Amino acid sequence: MIANEVLAKFKEIYGEDGDIRVYFAPGRVNLIGEHTDYNGGHVFPCALTIGTYMAARKRNDRKLRFYSMNFEDLGVVESSLDAFTPDPDGLWINYPMGVMWAFEGRGMKLEQGLDIALFGNIPNGSGLSSSASLEVLTGLMLKDTFGFKDLSMIDLALIGQYSENNFNGCNCGIMDQFASAMGKKDHAIFLDTATLSFEYAPVILDGAKIVVTNSMVKHSLVTSAYNDRRNESAQALKDLQTVVDIKTLGDLTEEEFEAHKDAIKDEIARKRGKHAVYENQRTIKAVKALKDNDLATFGKLMNASHVSLRDDYETSCPEVDVLVDEAWKISGVIGSRITGGGFGGCTVSIVKDEAVEEFKEKLTAAYQEKVGKTPEFYVVSIGDGPSRKMC
Ligand code: GLA
Repeated sequence: MIANEVLAKFKEIYGEDGDIRVYFAPGRVNLIGEHTDYNGGHVFPCALTIGTYMAARKRNDRKLRFYSMNFEDLGVVESSLDAFTPDPDGLWINYPMGVMWAFEGRGMKLEQGLDIALFGNIPNGSGLSSSASLEVLTGLMLKDTFGFKDLSMIDLALIGQYSENNFNGCNCGIMDQFASAMGKKDHAIFLDTATLSFEYAPVILDGAKIVVTNSMVKHSLVTSAYNDRRNESAQALKDLQTVVDIKTLGDLTEEEFEAHKDAIKDEIARKRGKHAVYENQRTIKAVKALKDNDLATFGKLMNASHVSLRDDYETSCPEVDVLVDEAWKISGVIGSRITGGGFGGCTVSIVKDEAVEEFKEKLTAAYQEKVGKTPEFYVVSIGDGPSRKMC
């Protein structure tokens, strides 16, 4: 079991004494509702059974020591509770450091430093929220280790998002941290990001699987155009607010958008606004279709989501488009789209059991021929939220 391996590594590096605790927090895949979470819309992600593991122990001084089994060549990286400034090289420790900084900023003082060992089995840069899982994981570890009992899992998601926005410089929405913190086995989370009200919807895919395909094109949300998209959507909202009384783009139906869209002066901002409005409505329809057991409609909405992200929101990339185009050609594919922040990363597809092998073979052959790379496939299971692991 991975938790035991992380614990063993911790003991090897830092010694066996004291109260060493091990925790896990999952990554996520979003089924539909992309780039809606900072536009007051709905999202429909689910937590995965893969994620990040952490072993941690309090120290008697104010030092922080970090070790990741994913970046062994970095060795033990040292910092301190008195040195909360982001590492300029963007080291992974910026994520746990950011969460500690956010705890302190909320008056939850960390009186002692920590030794930390980590392992994640989410492929790095794949868009399956390795960073959000690390933020939620750090939050859970701090809550449990320092006894901040009043913090809810939603609080941990919000602290994670706050730290990512303000310490790591990515202006992300709440989806990833919420999906990691609130995951539930075999369910996706239908979340209204305007109010944070949510509902669990069972994902029963009779005779089909969720297949995540990694384009092996690493995305980087901070350096990518993610923050630009956010600003462009905000501009669309601002222009629309001159003609219609709305708080977010999620307040509009497609018809209302069409009636008022000329208020958005800039053509790019109009396209971004269109995506945000239509994608939110697609997400609402998709969840209804899933509840009605109408997987075909769910798949069509996934496909339409991809077209909109490709053409209007422009967060896809040619490599990912190859994977989606090839997937659409296979009759056993119910739906396929880019998932997550975009600019690389993964696609999510719903594939009939009997077509999974064909899916892998055809996508691999086409991708090798057209892109010159080999994609990776993960047939994923929907898992629970974070937990302490007893080992
Ligand atoms: C990233 C962000 C999320 C969300 C998605 C796009 O994963 O962290 O908040 O905006 O992109 O849907």
